[in-house]
Amino acid sequence: MIYLDNAATSFPKPPEVLAAMTAYATTIGASPGRSGHRPAADAGRLVFQAREQAAALFKVSDSSRIIFTKNVTEALNLAIMGLAQPGDRVLVSAMEHNAVMRPLRHLEQKGRITLNIIPSSPAGEPDLDQLRHRLRRHSFQLAVLNHGSNVTGGILPLDQIIPLLKDEGLTVVVDGAQTAGAVPVDFTALDCDIFCFTGHKSLLGPQGTGGMILKKGIMPEPLMRGGTGSRSEAEFQPEFLPDYYESGTPNTIGLAGLGAALAFVNQTTTAEIHRHERKLALILRQGLSTIPGLQLFGPAPEQDHLPVISFTMEKLTPSEIGFHLDRRHEIMVRVGLHCAPLAHKTIGSFPRGTVRLAPGFFNTFQEMETVLEAIGSLAARRPA
Ligand SMILES: Cc1ncc(COP(=O)(O)O)c(C=O)c1O
Repeated sequence: MIYLDNAATSFPKPPEVLAAMTAYATTIGASPGRSGHRPAADAGRLVFQAREQAAALFKVSDSSRIIFTKNVTEALNLAIMGLAQPGDRVLVSAMEHNAVMRPLRHLEQKGRITLNIIPSSPAGEPDLDQLRHRLRRHSFQLAVLNHGSNVTGGILPLDQIIPLLKDEGLTVVVDGAQTAGAVPVDFTALDCDIFCFTGHKSLLGPQGTGGMILKKGIMPEPLMRGGTGSRSEAEFQPEFLPDYYESGTPNTIGLAGLGAALAFVNQTTTAEIHRHERKLALILRQGLSTIPGLQLFGPAPEQDHLPVISFTMEKLTPSEIGFHLDRRHEIMVRVGLHCAPLAHKTIGSFPRGTVRLAPGFFNTFQEMETVLEAIGSLAARRPA
């Protein structure tokens, strides 16, 4: 089997991840921060270590600013619902996932905010002149921006966009679902207010893990309040970090796995992961571009991009291609809209969507050649 659906969730995971989860389940088992006994302290240590590993990866000096959630969707909802104020004008990129669009469209439908989309090229690249023009004409309060596209692999030039937004006093939230673990991310240099990540994609951790990083002074309203294991005498939520946002028993087994995954990524380095994945993506892009009747989407191959490649074929629908790749060639890809209809409208592949190839760190160059042969043979088939 060749697994090319790493943009949905990465597979396989490093063996260390499974070992850490098994060790927690078989030798610890207790709730972190809830009881005074030794296994509870061990569980607390595991969660703390995961936080410290995340802080090291994203270059955050105070790990209590890393808040764990069950995925990036929860982190984005927390950020959006906790920050958006009635009457706010909110900016998004033209490549947003529904994890961003649905909470924002909900607020818009309720008449609480107005939503503006940054004009972009058909490759999904933002038009910075248009953005400057909009920022001059209207005042905006909040921006929520996709860092790396799960449809085209394009990386938004945040180093150019965020300074423009900061000059106008916007609060900036970044959806780092696809970039965390795939490219180096320096939270301080990025200068956003909240960076949201998910644990089960390029961070190589288990599903049910994710989180966000808060800049000093940024305190959105929490989504939930409840038991934190701290200040149990108080009926009001403790306002210190990370407890303010982490109510209820956490996914400790998941966080044990995430901690091991983050340690793996830190040791391997995101630069090395990106180097390998970029080569895999280039082999695919170059090979696909020579197959007749095939349309490739997204940025030009020489531009820096994530290992996410979208294409369509004249002869077959994305679903047919996905079916044949799975059943005949044992190649697993994702087809359709990838929970990002706005992105597909931007690149012109709505409503049918595309076939998405998303190799990961554990894929080989030889596998990419096999995939290209399989897609070439589908393209060469005579119509039935
Ligand atoms: C850009 C982007 N944002 C958000 C998400 C949602 O991720 P999760 O399901 O882990 O919350 C995804 C995952 O598909 C994504 O690619």
